[in-house]
Amino acid sequence: MHYKIALIRGDGIGPEIVNETVKVMDKIGEKFGHTFEYGDVLLGGCATDAVGVSYPDGTAELCKSCDAVLLGAVGGPKWGSDKPAEQRPETALLAIRKELGLYANLRPAVLMPALADACPLKKETAERGIDLLMVRELTGGIYFGRRDRYETPDRGVECTDLMAYSEKEIERIGRRAFEMARLRRRKVSSVDKANVLETSRLWRAVMHRLAEEYPDVAYEDVLVDNCAMQLVRDPGQFDVVVTENMFGDILSDEASMITGSIGLLPSASMGDGAPALYEPIHGSAPDIAGQDKANPIATILSAAMMFRYSFQLSAEADAIEAAVDKALAEGWRTADIAGPGEAVAGTQKMGQAIRDNI
Ligand code: IPM
Ligand code: MG
Repeated sequence: MHYKIALIRGDGIGPEIVNETVKVMDKIGEKFGHTFEYGDVLLGGCATDAVGVSYPDGTAELCKSCDAVLLGAVGGPKWGSDKPAEQRPETALLAIRKELGLYANLRPAVLMPALADACPLKKETAERGIDLLMVRELTGGIYFGRRDRYETPDRGVECTDLMAYSEKEIERIGRRAFEMARLRRRKVSSVDKANVLETSRLWRAVMHRLAEEYPDVAYEDVLVDNCAMQLVRDPGQFDVVVTENMFGDILSDEASMITGSIGLLPSASMGDGAPALYEPIHGSAPDIAGQDKANPIATILSAAMMFRYSFQLSAEADAIEAAVDKALAEGWRTADIAGPGEAVAGTQKMGQAIRDNI
């Protein structure tokens, strides 16, 4: 088959990790008889530098003309929060998620056996294993609510960010979570703050309604503060964790760290139509950009998710995941996952080691 993939290389380490991933995808193409056509899409700080805005006109259309989108990373101190919104890379990321309707963000956190030593949790806890899927709502909530900034007579400037959720938005993300659970260990933990927030009380009511529709899936409510604690106390208890946008942002960073490094975890953002967007959950790491130091694994595993979910190519996805496991088992380590005294490979060496195992 022939597939068209939009590449958003982005900022910082983005171009390097996307490069390695393209080489992995091409190796898969050779081996399994597919061809991939790549189209570069300019987005993020690099777009601000090139054309003055981080989200150029026509970006969504370009992406929609492809079968899937792969994104490296966007952002950096050069385009910081003091810059106008249209020049900030984060604005572009939120805009593309919204314009492509990518409301479901899947962030698997798996502790790979070869990296058990990189897990910062107690040995007994790590031995119980970690294999959870964070399902984060991605196009609603406080990220997209109305913002305001105004002068008050007596308290200086005041700002507000509105968190809003509709039943429809909650139901569609909830359904995703239950459907994903059916493909896994059949347990959904829904995370909210229903003891305080009205949006969470609605969230919980909708989730309970769905839980009745999926009697074969175990269901529990977890308050967000407790979830943050349980993730370090006993992450093995979780299968699918579903939550709203901002809680999911925070908890997914935590979930990534307990598996050893934020450099390892991929993600998929999808809506009801094509194309979905695949990206590592880490950022652009400007401090190590251009130095061949970044870990390309999260992006390479994001391509595996693309093959699995957008192209229904599960053997190809398995081949990538197995190649990553093998490269790690052979002892290849980028700086972020190297233990004391272990040899450190660069971005390109790690990419090569993974390709050699395909
Ligand atoms: C993420 C990132 C983004 C988010 C930022 C860069 C806007 O942290 O994908 O988790 O908060 O969604
Ligand atoms: Mg984040």
